[in-house]
Amino acid sequence: MKHDAVRKLSHDITTCTRCRLSLTRINAVPGEGPVPSRLFFIGEAPGKKEDLTGRPFVGRAGSVLEALLASVGLERNKVYITSIIKCRPPENRLPRRDEIAACSGYLDQQIEILYPEIIIPMGRLASELIFSHFGLSHGPIGRIHGKAFHAKTLHRDLLIVPVYHPAAVTHNPPIKSALFEDFQILGTIIEEYGRSFRHE
Ligand code: URA
Repeated sequence: MKHDAVRKLSHDITTCTRCRLSLTRINAVPGEGPVPSRLFFIGEAPGKKEDLTGRPFVGRAGSVLEALLASVGLERNKVYITSIIKCRPPENRLPRRDEIAACSGYLDQQIEILYPEIIIPMGRLASELIFSHFGLSHGPIGRIHGKAFHAKTLHRDLLIVPVYHPAAVTHNPPIKSALFEDFQILGTIIEEYGRSFRHE
């Protein structure tokens, strides 16, 4: 059932023409990971390699993300990874407000179908979108990263743990230690949640 829903959603995303990015993309990048997924990581937008392959986080930011996951004993194929917009903005510019709005229904559906217990928005844009989705008020990313926030859906409670974006390491090397600390905190939260995400 859920696999069918994910397949249909991926088809809708890869054939989407809701915004201008559909005119310049090579491949849309719906996301990948287990179905359902307890851990749901959300980045900003596909880059060049993601556009070429149709897979999320396969470039430099992807290597950083894999190192961060490994630092707390997580493998990338055990978590769901996607981004707030599914098509690459030209020259990797920031996603525009109307592009995020056009794409956000896909993220909402992914959250609905994949039923995560912990959502990890990476970077300010993903964090703002997720906080607004769950009716939470968002502070500066420098203040909220590495903290757990409680959110509710109709059917369940979940946690949101915003972290810095892995690509920030490239533009701002001092952020690296903060990012690894964010993941250590995430690792502790996962432990405290009482279930193993590692050995399934
Ligand atoms: N950065 C993102 O936010 N998403 C990707 O898929 C790749 C890099």
